[in-house]
Amino acid sequence: MSDHDAPLAVQLDTVRKVFSNGRAVPLVGRLRRSQPGKTVIAVDDLSLSVARGQIYGVLGANGSGKSTLIRLISTLLVPDSGRVLVFGHDVVKEEMAVKRLINRVSVEAAFFRVLSPMENLLYAARLYGLDGGVARRRVLEILDSLGIDAKRVGEPLEKMSRGMQQKVAIARAFLTSPILLLLDEPTTGLDPRSKREVQQLILDLRARHDATVVLTTHDMDEADRLCDRIAILHQGRIVADDTPSALKCRYGASPTSTLEDIFMALTGHQIEEEEAERVG
Ligand SMILES: Nc1ncnc2c1ncn2[C@@H]1O[C@H](COP(=O)(O)OP(=O)(O)OP(=O)(O)O)[C@@H](O)[C@H]1O
Ligand SMILES: [Mg+2]
Repeated sequence: MSDHDAPLAVQLDTVRKVFSNGRAVPLVGRLRRSQPGKTVIAVDDLSLSVARGQIYGVLGANGSGKSTLIRLISTLLVPDSGRVLVFGHDVVKEEMAVKRLINRVSVEAAFFRVLSPMENLLYAARLYGLDGGVARRRVLEILDSLGIDAKRVGEPLEKMSRGMQQKVAIARAFLTSPILLLLDEPTTGLDPRSKREVQQLILDLRARHDATVVLTTHDMDEADRLCDRIAILHQGRIVADDTPSALKCRYGASPTSTLEDIFMALTGHQIEEEEAERVG
């Protein structure tokens, strides 16, 4: 497909990101993961595609490279090699074009905690360049669609639950009507009810705004429930990338295998394979 045909929402082509001593280093040749010292291949020649309108989930253990992947797509990090395209735009060569299309919500969203959701969102709207009247209307619209009670929009955020704060973080990301929303662990640390509410919000926003969503999670049920496609990441590489049902069908040992069984089987197996590769 040429880049002029309807482009994929996200496309990574053999993307690599290496960190050393807390710094990113340029990489010449191929480093071995077992090299002593401080070098980490956070994302290891990774390729993936996300179609427009999909909710694409990235599952992986701590340190498997999920947040690095999200940062690479969001232009916060520059790949050492390979190519990242967002709706056909190269994140390095066309950074501004990409920034206009995306928004990112990280697990620890920063807010002015003494300010209310309304004040926080109006502040963000101003930073995004929305004018006063438009911003206020849009904020009210978004807060309403989030089911945030009008009586509460003026309360300080620090008095609100983490679930509510996370909803406000996602609402903020929608001020700019991004067509690609990057959510790094949107429901981590939330109680079951808040988790469900945030999940429902993600589904609603996708339906209403024709948005594409890439999210990371540690929650297998969440991935199963929300995602059209799931990539399982292990040590910076994708070990499986398919629909939840196809993953269960292909890798499940029995008809009752859960995504969690498959995750354990795939990530455990891969370690053994890599060890064998190294020895061999
Ligand atoms: N800025 C950085 N400097 C140095 N190393 C880093 C940096 N960011 C990530 N890493 C390393 O890269 C690897 C991948 O980290 P990353 O944060 O992408 O993992 P993750 O899958 O998001 O983990 P978690 O589930 O804990 O959030 C880890 O070994 C991490 O220590
Ligand atoms: Mg992370």
